[in-house]
Amino acid sequence: MSLDVASDDPVHAQYEAYPYPPRDPRDEAKRLVTGSPSHLAEVVHFVFGGRFDPTRRLRALVAGGGTGDAAIMLAQQLADAGCADAEVTYVDWSRASRAIAEARAAARGLANLRFATGSLLALDALGLEALATGGFDYIDCCGVLHHLEDPDAGLASLAAALAPEGGMGLMVYAPLGRVGVYPVQALLRGLGTDGTPAERVALARRLLNQLPPTNWLKRNPFMTDHLVEGDPGLYDLLLHARDRAYSVDEVHDFVARAGLRLLGFTPPARYEPRHYITDPALLKRLDGLDARAAAAFAENLAGNIKSHAFYVVRSGNAVAPPAADSLDLVPVPANVELAQLARSIGGNGVVTATVDGLPFRMPVPRLTGALLARIDGRRSLREIHADLAARDPKLTEAAFLQQFQQLFANLHALGKLMLRRPA
Ligand SMILES: C[S@@+](CC[C@H](N)C(=O)[O-])C[C@H]1O[C@@H](n2cnc3c(N)ncnc32)[C@H](O)[C@@H]1O
Repeated sequence: MSLDVASDDPVHAQYEAYPYPPRDPRDEAKRLVTGSPSHLAEVVHFVFGGRFDPTRRLRALVAGGGTGDAAIMLAQQLADAGCADAEVTYVDWSRASRAIAEARAAARGLANLRFATGSLLALDALGLEALATGGFDYIDCCGVLHHLEDPDAGLASLAAALAPEGGMGLMVYAPLGRVGVYPVQALLRGLGTDGTPAERVALARRLLNQLPPTNWLKRNPFMTDHLVEGDPGLYDLLLHARDRAYSVDEVHDFVARAGLRLLGFTPPARYEPRHYITDPALLKRLDGLDARAAAAFAENLAGNIKSHAFYVVRSGNAVAPPAADSLDLVPVPANVELAQLARSIGGNGVVTATVDGLPFRMPVPRLTGALLARIDGRRSLREIHADLAARDPKLTEAAFLQQFQQLFANLHALGKLMLRRPA
């Protein structure tokens, strides 16, 4: 499947010159890159309301798949989960990016991944099988829509490709955490947009060396893509032909204009000021805010959110992520090694995390160690309770569930624990 991409869009030219993010297919032997959106545990929790049947047919699209992170992660996780009729389709208009993603898939021997070259604005032209058979059950579009000339047209194109009960995981830039980026982009445009990509990178490096200590990019310690990701990282951050950022409120409006409904941002703790405000008078006022207002408040309060990752479904789809209210549920770890997490909690009774400089300190219940040692993404809470009750017959189901709920509230907020309903 391939469309002859005859585009004079500078964003297209940029990703042919500098595929992003930079990836070496040889690294597939060492690690799987995981993250949000599109970790399978998150997709099941948010988009499918915790329902997941590995025998069902599942069609996923990764739109603007770049060098392959989401497509590889999802395809690998679906293969590991034994999903025989699940297929991931990667679409990008950059052939150079596709070549890297294909080499990564080959290094892993993934047979459930298809590749197409073309624009996400013209998916119909690609002859994708899923479009003729009901649409995609899941669509990932991470770090792409904010680069389009008309992001609304991009989201509308993806919404049109979605199955009625399907959902999407999206990521767009956020303004406050990117403090300093846009003034430096303007400086570089001011110095001239002529020259080859390599010449422009060289000029940008000269400017970076001359930034005074007062410059906001210099003063933003959490914005380091241009420092740690080589020429592609520098180009993507500071020489990008086109990018824009969305506040929480703008994300809500963007989603609504496409006829979609926002299920939630992830990790949720970043969007809930009550996780790090302690003053009782402020907390009382915060109790009056709905989720959208609380998230907008958190964005302005923390000031460090560089991008928003979130899940959406069609506005008529009433699906809801599961509440931790039944022993039949299966807790599923995401983006974390639970044994390592258990060690970091130790006997303190507190889980700590620092996200782009923002510290979280959350109390965890007495049974945390025992729970973390038994959560494996397969065992239900009922099975875990039976195991613990065999050692401590006084541990009632109700007391156990209460302990789990306390743990889940905080680990889910940090994006580390999801829920699945029984098959
Ligand atoms: C910043 S990269 C993100 C890659 C990937 N989604 C990730 O998160 O690692 C943006 C990608 O979107 C692709 N892209 C931008 N506009 C596109 C369009 N209209 N159609 C298809 N791909 C597009 C670019 O070629 C590039 O590979």
